[in-house]
Amino acid sequence: MPEDTQPDSTQPDRTAANPTVDESAHAPTGVMDPADEVTEINPDVDITPEDIGPTVAEGERLLEVDDVTLRFGGVVALNEVSFHINKGEILGLIGPNGAGKTTCFNVMTGVYQPTSGGVRFLGNPLGKRKKFAITKLGIARTFQNIRLFANMTVLENVLVGVDAHHSTGIGSAMFRLPKHRREEEQGHARAMELLEFMGLAGKADELARNLPYGDQRRLEIARALATSPQLLCLDEPAAGFNPAEKRKLMELIQTIRDQGYTVLLIEHDMKLVMGVTDRIVVLEFGRKIAEGTPAEIRDNPAVIAAYLGVDEEDAS
Ligand SMILES: Nc1ncnc2c1ncn2[C@@H]1O[C@H](COP(=O)(O)OP(=O)(O)OP(=O)(O)O)[C@@H](O)[C@H]1O
Ligand SMILES: [Mg+2]
Repeated sequence: MPEDTQPDSTQPDRTAANPTVDESAHAPTGVMDPADEVTEINPDVDITPEDIGPTVAEGERLLEVDDVTLRFGGVVALNEVSFHINKGEILGLIGPNGAGKTTCFNVMTGVYQPTSGGVRFLGNPLGKRKKFAITKLGIARTFQNIRLFANMTVLENVLVGVDAHHSTGIGSAMFRLPKHRREEEQGHARAMELLEFMGLAGKADELARNLPYGDQRRLEIARALATSPQLLCLDEPAAGFNPAEKRKLMELIQTIRDQGYTVLLIEHDMKLVMGVTDRIVVLEFGRKIAEGTPAEIRDNPAVIAAYLGVDEEDAS
């Protein structure tokens, strides 16, 4: 199924918002090897986002998806979808295959422009902003299929994210102006902190492609965090994980939230989503069919019908 594709791009765009360059050189197995050692995170390392600029108070609306429709030819991938994400919450975005979850991420991160409707972040429309501009605004994502720079080191992968956040341009980089040098040092320290947090600091100099699958998934999250986002969007971050690893990843997501991030989580495993999220939005065939607390969603006949593939009346 197509997802994350960029039909209009002619040039590779080597940014944290679109780290696709080395994809061909990388063959993710898509599942954990049972022999892989499970990496322990260090939840006490301080990874609070830095220099985030203007924001809203805890519990207020950080992002609003407003009546978004997106058509691909005859396919209506999103159909008049509206929901919002409150600052400080973990919002689950769930729904059967093809429901429009990844497309929703793509609209929120500037990969696609909606056919109608729009997205507001901190009250301002994203409009026609490009991916890098949206990353700078404070929205970061990971991808359903891992997209690391396979032939770069673990540290370099995270530095790509740090660079996307920092402000000095190519001019000051070329002339090695003091501000640029300072940013470089701070960036390096920030990247190492994130690797420390993820339990990957000891592997900083390894090539990303040589990491076990679970570490690659965590590295992708570290890179997204390196952009100091206000909103972290995770597209099935636990895909291919065994149940114990999945539980650990959910704990990691909660820790990330507790350190000051807002999280939007796509995850297929209902039980996991129920355990980790504050609220859940459910999509089916591009439409929002339910929204509420995990308990409300669990008992919602339309959701049960969507997941079990039975008529709503039979499920109620
Ligand atoms: N670039 C595209 N071109 C055409 N159709 C697309 C494109 N991207 C997505 N779609 C279609 O939009 C619909 C929603 O796809 P999407 O990938 O968002 O679903 P999803 O909920 O993420 O599914 P999954 O759980 O399988 O990842 C599907 O019918 C898909 O085929
Ligand atoms: Mg998807």
